[in-house]
Amino acid sequence: MNDTRKVVIGITGGIAAYKVPLLVRLLHKNGCEVKTVMTAAAKPLVGVEALRTLSGNPVYLDGESYYDMGHIRLSDWADVLLICPATANTIAKIACGIADNLLTTLSLSVPEEKIIVAPAMNCVMWANGATQANINILVDRGITVLPVEDGELACGVSGPGRMIGVEEIARRVLAHGGGAGESMSRLLEGKNVLISSGPTEEPIDPVRVITNKSSGKMGAALARAALSSGARVTVVSGPASEPLPAGAEVVSVRTAAEMGREMGERFGAADICVMAAAVSDYRPVNSSDTKLHRSDNKNITLELTPNPDILAKLGAAKRPDQLLVGFSLESGDDVSRAEAKMKRKNCDVMVYNRVDAALGGDSTCFTLLFADGRKESFSVMDKTEAAKIILANVINLAICN
Ligand code: CTP
Repeated sequence: MNDTRKVVIGITGGIAAYKVPLLVRLLHKNGCEVKTVMTAAAKPLVGVEALRTLSGNPVYLDGESYYDMGHIRLSDWADVLLICPATANTIAKIACGIADNLLTTLSLSVPEEKIIVAPAMNCVMWANGATQANINILVDRGITVLPVEDGELACGVSGPGRMIGVEEIARRVLAHGGGAGESMSRLLEGKNVLISSGPTEEPIDPVRVITNKSSGKMGAALARAALSSGARVTVVSGPASEPLPAGAEVVSVRTAAEMGREMGERFGAADICVMAAAVSDYRPVNSSDTKLHRSDNKNITLELTPNPDILAKLGAAKRPDQLLVGFSLESGDDVSRAEAKMKRKNCDVMVYNRVDAALGGDSTCFTLLFADGRKESFSVMDKTEAAKIILANVINLAICN
């Protein structure tokens, strides 16, 4: 496969079709050449002119191109056929080998290993036995079927069936078959990414500290993802167990005050800053230089004073050309606390995750909150994968702003 990945996007009649122009732009920015094919049902949902302008190519509709062997020319041209959004109806037709429009005919003439399907539908239709059987047929034949999201659907109900975010779809298309796009390839070339990682430690005496269970796995995964996107990466890390990638500049700190100072000094040079560290909110008012000794088995009181909020300070200093990402670790399902933190700390993206699903482990499930009010939820996945998704979304903001 050569460097320019040729992608045909087949758009069917799901409401998520309105997101395809953004996907076209994202793929184009990542060095893909894109052509689009629409079914009749998709036509009212997305602008032909927008697709033509963003892809720089004609939009293929049923009619002339169909009878003119257009499907064969497109199938010869394509490295990837992405069907997005893929309705239950089109999925069923592909499973049965029905070829009653340009897109389904094209699907029959492209080798299965080149096809990616991004389903989008109502949760009842998604759960229906026929749809699930059809999905299995596609997978058995070697077609890549992307997952769906669980969330609010256009029809007003909530459940699994929503199309995954276009950033993630772009990432999968770029990674499909290896080669040119294993990551959001080199999109951060020349950019500085500053990441805080791990826990902080607040000394009580030379032996004891106040700290937390952060492993630094997410910070390390973010650093790896940023490096593979071509960025210069600096990690200001508390005492974490997880090793950091060799290509990153690592600044080791212990306390929140040290982390705040090091982050503050480097923030001006950063294009993207991610506060993934679990910063201790309090430190002892007095820390002893010598080991504190037990005294007569009596209770003792440790007086704590708040640490400065590093992220809020960075948010206050942020320039319009910088992107700031925070993490919000919460005990419950209520995202409103994370939303409030995002506003208070002036972040562009807030990663909301639950304590029980994220802290210390190898996996996480999370919701991305964006300053414009958008929300994208992701189910449990490995932190390496999660870091790639988080970064892909930040890169998308950088491109589209
Ligand atoms: N953070 C920070 N400085 C602090 C505390 C937190 O920079 N002193 C950052 C974290 O790195 C994270 C975000 O703020 O990106 C949210 O941290 P979190 O612990 O979820 O929230 P807090 O602001 O500490 O609020 P609370 O403890 O009340 O949930």
